[in-house]
This record gives sequence, structure tokens and C-alpha cells, in this order.
Amino acid sequence: MRTALVSGGASGIGRACADRLSAEGVRVVTADLAPGCDVRLDVTDPEAVTAAAGRIGPVDILVNSAGIIGPNKPLWEVSDEEWAATFAVNVTGTFHLCRAFARGMAETGWGRIVNLASIAGKEGNPGLAAYSASKAAVIGLTKALGKELATSGVLVNAVAPAVIETPMNAATAPEVLDRLVSLIPMRRLGRAEEVAELVAWLASERCSFSTGAVYDISGGRATY
Ligand SMILES: NC(=O)c1ccc[n+]([C@@H]2O[C@H](COP(=O)([O-])OP(=O)(O)OC[C@H]3O[C@@H](n4cnc5c(N)ncnc54)[C@H](O)[C@@H]3O)[C@@H](O)[C@H]2O)c1
Repeated sequence: MRTALVSGGASGIGRACADRLSAEGVRVVTADLAPGCDVRLDVTDPEAVTAAAGRIGPVDILVNSAGIIGPNKPLWEVSDEEWAATFAVNVTGTFHLCRAFARGMAETGWGRIVNLASIAGKEGNPGLAAYSASKAAVIGLTKALGKELATSGVLVNAVAPAVIETPMNAATAPEVLDRLVSLIPMRRLGRAEEVAELVAWLASERCSFSTGAVYDISGGRATY
């Protein structure tokens, strides 16, 4: 039986991924700051990640879904703290978990890492400079690690969703959501289960000739 670690697994896309992988017979461990997960973990804390990795042991699948939207305001109003906090979770947290688990996967000769990027990292969303830049960094990390591990049996890919109906968007103003939906040719929000379906494929043997790639899931919004 394969084991998966899903960060951010208490909510939204991470929870949907955990449910989808469990339904396939994968043993899933969810790690999150929020209650309702298997392991309480702050992915920004390198020592906590190392300690958790020791307790969890090697995993076959890592889904990095822990993330925050960060400041939603004009760039010149973004504080150093807001910028750093966004990168700490979205980029450094993803780095911490990849560092803690990728070597074990390479040693066994099989592994799948799926990182949650965003269409914001490819196109940039106005008012979300820190978030957009952090997701572009996740894409760069994914491409580099994918190439680094390309002959190891460990595949590293990212998904880039457009706006998905999850708690992350609960506080988003209706007019902002309307604008984001207007950019989507299918004219609707995505669902966490739809993203989980793609993640489950990327986390499986059925995905075998892709690494360092970015998979759009955007109702037609992505144009490259
Ligand atoms: N919802 C969208 O529209 C959308 C679109 C594109 C990409 N994404 C990305 O998908 C991922 C999941 O988003 P979601 O919509 O499910 O959000 P969500 O807010 O529902 O879930 C995110 C989870 O991450 C956890 N988390 C935050 N900081 C953490 C930390 N320091 N350590 C551990 N866990 C932490 C939260 O507690 C939460 O449970 C994120 O990386 C997000 O950027 C979301």
C-alpha cells in the first residue's frame, strides 16, 4: 500500500486530494496547522518539518497544498511581513517538505510530488503580487526538482488552478470573484474535487512520462 502526505490536508483542495487518494486505497497522512488533520504541522518551521518527517517515515506521494493567499492590496501597500509570510508558506513550506521527503523517494526508486501552484503564478493577478510571485516560485522549484530527479523514478509536477471554490476564497469580495470567473471561458468556479482528480493522476503510476511540468486546470483560462 502506498503512503501519501498531503500538506494543507485539513481544507479545500488538500482535503479533496486526501479523500480522492484514500478512495484509491492510498494510506493518507494529512498535515496542517488547522484542526482536523492527522499531524499538526507548520510547514514554515524547518525543525518541525524535520521532526514530523521522522515520525511519519518515508512516503511515496507528497502533495504540497498548504498555502495562503497573502495580502490582497496594491503592491506599494504590501508590508515586508506580509510579503515574507506569503513566501514562507507557499514557497519555503513547499521546499521544506520536498527536502524532507524527496531523498527517501529517490532511494526507493519511486515517488510522486505534486505542488499546488496557481494560474496567478503564470499570468499574475492584480492586487495579489506576493501570491502571484510565490506561485511563480513554486513553478520554478517544480521544474528544477523535476529535472534533478528525472532518472530516479520520482516525478515532480505542479498544477495551476484558476479560482476554485474553497475556504481560501470565502472572504474574497463578490466583485473580485466575478472578475476572476469572467476570465474563465467556462464561466464558473472550479471545484476542489476536479483538482483532486488531476492530482490523483499525477500521483499515480498512470502518469509516467511527465516531470517538471505544470498542468493547467482553469476552465479554459490558461492560454499557455
Ligand atoms: N482555491 C483556489 O482558488 C486556488 C487556486 C489556485 C491555487 N490554489 C492553491 O491550492 C492550495 C490549497 O488551497 P485551498 O483553496 O484548498 O485553500 P484552503 O485555505 O482551503 O486550504 C489551505 C490549507 O493550508 C493550511 N495552511 C496554511 N498555512 C499553513 C502552514 N504554515 N502550515 C501548514 N498548513 C498551512 C491551512 O490551514 C488550510 O487548511 C494552496 O496552495 C493555494 O494557493 C488555490
